[in-house]
Amino acid sequence: MTAQVFVLMVLVGSCVVAAQKTSSNVTLGTSLSPRSSSPWLSPSGLYAMGFFAEGSPGFYKVGIFLAGIPERTIVWTANRDDPPVTDNFTLVFTAEGQLFLQSPQGDQTSIAAGLQLVQYASMLDSGNFAIFDVNGNIIWQSFSYPTDCLIQTQPLLTGNQLFSSMAVDNHATGIFRLKMQHDGNLIQYPINTPDTAPYSYYTSWTDGKGDNVSLRFDIDGHLYLMNSFGSNIRNITPGGLPTKGMTYMFRLDPDGLMRLYSHNLTQNTNWSVVWNSTSDKCDPKGLCGLNGYCVLVNNDAECRCIPGFDFVMPGNWSAGCARNTSDSTCASIGAESGYSMQAVDNSTWEDDSYSTMVTVDKQSCSSACLGDCNCEAALFSQGQCRKQRLPLRYGRRQVTDPTSALIKVGPADMIVPGRNFPQGNRKEVRKDVLIVGASLAGIGFIVMVISLFVIYRGTVWTYRKICDKIDIELGDDVAPRSFSYAQLEIITDNFKEQIGRGRNVNWELPKKEAVLQDWVTECCLNGNVQEITKLDEKADRQQFGNAIRTGLWCIMDEATLRPTMKKVLWMLEGNTEVPMPPLHSLLSDADSSTSSSVTAQPDSRDI
Ligand SMILES: *[C@@H]1O[C@H](CO)[C@@H](O)[C@H](O)[C@H]1NC(C)=O
Ligand SMILES: *[C@@H]1O[C@H](CO)[C@@H](O)[C@H](O)[C@H]1NC(C)=O
Ligand SMILES: *[C@@H]1O[C@H](CO)[C@@H](O)[C@H](O)[C@H]1NC(C)=O
Ligand SMILES: *[C@@H]1O[C@H](CO)[C@@H](O)[C@H](O)[C@H]1NC(C)=O
Ligand SMILES: *[C@@H]1O[C@H](CO)[C@@H](O)[C@H](O)[C@H]1NC(C)=O
Ligand SMILES: *[C@@H]1O[C@H](CO)[C@@H](O)[C@H](O)[C@H]1NC(C)=O
Ligand SMILES: *[C@@H]1O[C@H](CO)[C@@H](O)[C@H](O)[C@H]1NC(C)=O
Ligand SMILES: *[C@@H]1O[C@H](CO)[C@@H](O)[C@H](O)[C@H]1NC(C)=O
Ligand SMILES: *[C@@H]1O[C@H](CO)[C@@H](O)[C@H](O)[C@H]1NC(C)=O
Repeated sequence: MTAQVFVLMVLVGSCVVAAQKTSSNVTLGTSLSPRSSSPWLSPSGLYAMGFFAEGSPGFYKVGIFLAGIPERTIVWTANRDDPPVTDNFTLVFTAEGQLFLQSPQGDQTSIAAGLQLVQYASMLDSGNFAIFDVNGNIIWQSFSYPTDCLIQTQPLLTGNQLFSSMAVDNHATGIFRLKMQHDGNLIQYPINTPDTAPYSYYTSWTDGKGDNVSLRFDIDGHLYLMNSFGSNIRNITPGGLPTKGMTYMFRLDPDGLMRLYSHNLTQNTNWSVVWNSTSDKCDPKGLCGLNGYCVLVNNDAECRCIPGFDFVMPGNWSAGCARNTSDSTCASIGAESGYSMQAVDNSTWEDDSYSTMVTVDKQSCSSACLGDCNCEAALFSQGQCRKQRLPLRYGRRQVTDPTSALIKVGPADMIVPGRNFPQGNRKEVRKDVLIVGASLAGIGFIVMVISLFVIYRGTVWTYRKICDKIDIELGDDVAPRSFSYAQLEIITDNFKEQIGRGRNVNWELPKKEAVLQDWVTECCLNGNVQEITKLDEKADRQQFGNAIRTGLWCIMDEATLRPTMKKVLWMLEGNTEVPMPPLHSLLSDADSSTSSSVTAQPDSRDI
């Protein structure tokens, strides 16, 4: 060993000692900044709580990461759906023991608040960031709020879920979830679905094992389900892996697969996969978005669009597919019109049929759909022809499934003016403009409607019981309620949190508009449009209702369901009633148990 190497080793050694010295309890009144201070380290120096870079250069999120290894590994993210912040934000552990992210203007976003008699906080060697009270009890811990991953000894308790991240470098909530259900089952679903079997794509088959089953993660990489009596009722991973110098991580990955990773702390190479929930990357439902389906190519998942459809956002599968020509299949009926049916054979889909008939073969099923103006697609399998409205969901090629999806495809010459650009890029820009335009129109309508109302009342909003006859069915436990505008203002903060947390709802909308949207939707759903306005004239009422429903159509989460500007004009002018858009995509409550059925787009026959 040369002298230089020896000196180097001594230096490295003293650095490690220094790191260990700096790691200690986080005392009251301490703060961190992405610029200067090092993060709060665990005594071993392996885990750290603090800022990590995410998004554009110079932007950060707060969370827990592995400081001791070269590969960037984030195991917990605070307020994951909030946008990354600049380097002049600080993480503050206040003198009262509350944990906040503070903006340079002094605005505080809570990470752990409302805690009593706090003494100190600590980044523990387990990777758990814990806050202790004066009696030495843990009163808040990051282990209780898992995001997309579990680390050794961290449980997933009954009723809790992991949500995948958007991407490896974006820790906002993605499109899959893993739920430890009260019935004892550990189940994977896409986000925003009811907790029912047809939506699941992985299950531990342990339902009926009591209302206190939890997922446990032993240090040897053993994951298993444990019941109230502390017994192992089912192994998820075999375990028995070496513990010395090794660390393990269990993650619901952005592609919807669960994986167990190992890392050799001596070698200090990257993580390697030691177990996965499936080797079929097309298993996760919803990977391909609406009107797309998944195909395995060399064991990798690849999304395709059903015939006549193109990707809404090339490169972003979860955004799904939309018709490449006119969005109307109702203009005329039958094969003479130039419409035809194209098949995707041996595929599996969510079956949301509005009519089922017996047909001898694929050909007659196709004819039946062609002859039905409302039929946009059909699923044919074993003599059953199930007519569908779009969008189709959860599609994948499955060689063992005899089902053929039959899609109604418009004549090639029926191209919407303005969409028919030869280059993909220009076409995309155009679509974006339409989407943004429609969203703005939506916000505009709602704002206009509210302003009109304020003017109509001739004074400030003195109105008291806007929704007083409404039974808002948000959940089983919600009784009839009434809101005043003032109350709405007060509860806005709660709603803000709810919206920020779960899903990528309303990404185009500022939060208040999002709340307003929910409120209008609820009033509208309950037929209380008149209540909002107190209009007497029947005609006014209908126009007003049409305007509101048009606005709601324009701000649908699913871009493919939003009407074109042309259609918007028609909806506003028309003397017919604009239909109510599908409610589940408009209400922001995360685990909505409303039916998943998607109603048809407004009929565009007369355009
Ligand atoms: C943190 O504080 C507690 C209680 O004051 C003490 O028992 C513990 O040893 C401290 N830990 C470290 C790493 O200083
Ligand atoms: C915070 O930093 C950003 C970018 O680094 C800068 O634009 C902004 O002016 C800063 N704000 C304050 C209050 O220093
Ligand atoms: C749930 O089970 C755990 C052990 O798995 C046990 O410690 C706890 O007391 C149980 N809780 C209830 C409410 O039964
Ligand atoms: C980790 O890496 C070291 C150095 O290569 C090796 O000696 C050790 O056996 C590895 N540990 C395990 C559990 O594979
Ligand atoms: C380890 O991970 C980093 C970043 O995640 C990557 O750039 C590098 O190629 C990986 N190394 C190996 C040997 O896979
Ligand atoms: C999952 O693990 C199996 C071995 O258990 C392996 O053959 C397969 O390639 C893995 N699949 C993925 C997608 O990682
Ligand atoms: C639309 O899709 C159909 C079927 O996939 C194809 O034949 C047609 O050329 C496409 N039209 C455009 C404008 O891309
Ligand atoms: C992909 O599309 C989804 C759904 O429209 C959207 O929420 C998400 O932000 C998009 N992701 C990217 C990277 O654009
Ligand atoms: C694929 O679908 C066709 C009908 O579309 C069916 O005849 C065939 O049996 C299917 N393949 C398998 C493996 O089931």
